[in-house]
Amino acid sequence: MIKSVTGTKDILPADIPRWKYLEKVVEQIFANFNYKEIRTPVFEETALFARGIGEETDIVGKEMYTFRDKSDTSLTLKPEMTASVVRSFLERSLGAQQPLVKLFYISPMFRQERPQAGRFRQFHQFGAEAIGSPSPLLDAEMIQMSYEILKSLGLKNLTVKINSLGTPETRENYKKLLKGYLKNKKSNLSQDSRRRFDTNVLRIFDSKIESDQELIKDAPKLIDHLDEESKKDFEVVKEQLKKSNIPFQIDPALVRGLDYYTKLTFEIDSSSVGAQAALIGGGRYDLLIENLGGKPTPATGFAAGIERILLACENEKSFTVSDATIDVYLIRIDDKLESVVSELGVKLRKENLSVDFDYLQRSVKAQMREANKMNARYVLFIGGDEYKDGMMKVKDMSDSSEINIPSDEIQELISKLKQ
Ligand code: HAM
Repeated sequence: MIKSVTGTKDILPADIPRWKYLEKVVEQIFANFNYKEIRTPVFEETALFARGIGEETDIVGKEMYTFRDKSDTSLTLKPEMTASVVRSFLERSLGAQQPLVKLFYISPMFRQERPQAGRFRQFHQFGAEAIGSPSPLLDAEMIQMSYEILKSLGLKNLTVKINSLGTPETRENYKKLLKGYLKNKKSNLSQDSRRRFDTNVLRIFDSKIESDQELIKDAPKLIDHLDEESKKDFEVVKEQLKKSNIPFQIDPALVRGLDYYTKLTFEIDSSSVGAQAALIGGGRYDLLIENLGGKPTPATGFAAGIERILLACENEKSFTVSDATIDVYLIRIDDKLESVVSELGVKLRKENLSVDFDYLQRSVKAQMREANKMNARYVLFIGGDEYKDGMMKVKDMSDSSEINIPSDEIQELISKLKQ
């Protein structure tokens, strides 16, 4: 038997109501903040991600699903949306119609990471990108929106972490400072961190290795070496979060795994999901549009992992969805009435009632069991003495009450079933 690919999973009918509920909450909150949905292709030219996310990142270096198509073009299944959204923004001149473009998405993503609880190779993100304004109020809006979504899903054990990576000039100066600090410790760093020392020294903060963490723990912090503008913007974000009653922590090591960030970065973690605690990550990326060939355009955004959020919701039992129901199950008492049942089913379905009946020649008892399994609100019996007398029996499954309705009074039947 052919099995599903490692790190992928089926979202089965029993899971769908929870996904739909989450999507409804997400779409409502994005609508409240006036974000418009965008859908981009599942694959893009590889160069977009290499240039957008950064050659030195784990995503580009190790995790992308890259392949050549028959015309020898290198293509990649999207590992994240920000680069794709910016590509679309530039290619379709979205900024020509309005100076600030606010977009949201819900989409599958692909990263060849080592699968574990909360980490998949195909996973789903929802997220938002606001392109066209340098205002720190928009950075705060990203956190307010994400926090509100998680709260609306009933989640409790959340930690909002924020940091500022400053302007590119600040960062370059700081990198020199950090390199100076680490220079005579370099030989004690892990192999990965020694490589990062040369390619992107900030990412040493991301190292999971304890000896690296020990070496870097007293290093100078970028947050203490910010330029005036970044400092001021960071203050505005903090102020806004306080005003919206969103508790937060400043985490100077929050450098994030993608290279495009400037100034604000943030993550929202949950203590309810184990090792993969980050539910949401985002921040400002004022240089990405330029790096991908556009005019200098400030932007900010975030993305959230849906599987992780649903796992947190499940572990916290943060919401319940009501069991799936159908409006009516038609029970055939006489086998010769099979086509009458089917015809009635068609009529009722046209009235937007959800209807089902037996296609497997099962007994009345088995049909009744099926109606119960489907949580039918009503059961309609077709056949027997009532039918001979021109009647059909309707049973209300909530209180087991029964009434007879004349078989030719379809309108009366419909009104009853819509109650
Ligand atoms: P990211 O931190 O790479 O950021 O991903 C955002 C979220 O996606 C993570 O916090 C996590 O919940 C989820 N996620 C990432 N990888 C996996 C995985 N392998 N399995 C399950 N869930 C995963 C970005 O993607 C940026 N594009 C966010 C952004 C938008 N920054 C600015 N705009």
